[in-house]
Amino acid sequence: GPIEEMSLPLYFGWFLLSSVQDKVRCTSMDFLKTLDTLEAFKKHLIDFTGKAEKEVDLEQYFQAKGTLHCTTKFCDYGKAEGAKEYAQIPAVNDLYGSVFELSLSALFVTPRTVGARVSLTEEQLVLWPADAEKEVESAASLPLGSRAHVTLGCAEGVEPVQTGLDLLDILALQQGGQQGELVEEMELGSLTYYGEGRWLLSLREPICAPACFSSFYE
Ligand code: A2P
Repeated sequence: GPIEEMSLPLYFGWFLLSSVQDKVRCTSMDFLKTLDTLEAFKKHLIDFTGKAEKEVDLEQYFQAKGTLHCTTKFCDYGKAEGAKEYAQIPAVNDLYGSVFELSLSALFVTPRTVGARVSLTEEQLVLWPADAEKEVESAASLPLGSRAHVTLGCAEGVEPVQTGLDLLDILALQQGGQQGELVEEMELGSLTYYGEGRWLLSLREPICAPACFSSFYE
């Protein structure tokens, strides 16, 4: 009935504790600041601007909003497919309110979004919906949890749901054998370009991010 539907959240996810949110935001800012000064990035600027000669300030280009989190299940207050079933998974109830240590293993940038890849452990994967990757045709054969990410910012007019799609797109390219072009070893890690404005920085040292499994209602 309507009351049951109302009680489902907009989404379930891991919410980064405030101490680590600042660290992740700073790391992301550092990365963007460095990226847009690289010759390799300038060479492909047209991916972001549509014009060869135009400059871009990536820190302005992406807008950040809300608390940093890794969505597990988007429920849309019960309207999303599988929302009710997800909320009834025993682990979702048992682990609600628990703190986990997420591992942020890479940062990625596209003309649409900037995000952090989250590498989930077996224990964390019990909270991951079985169909998250299957929603995207080209990503259907990627391992469970491939879509896990934290949205760090979106370009004007882009919805946050795009961040996970951009990550899956890059991972599907990798799975298809595309190595990308290793651009440079940065202090934070190695930077690879996958064409069409898609950049991936594999972090030398993954960021350990304590995060509370909970839900969000607007
Ligand atoms: P993300 O997890 O990439 O940050 P919104 O503000 O657009 O309602 O979205 C609320 C949260 O739910 C955001 O974190 C967003 O993306 C995520 N989200 C929105 N739509 C979907 C969807 N269709 N599938 C998965 N996650 C979604």
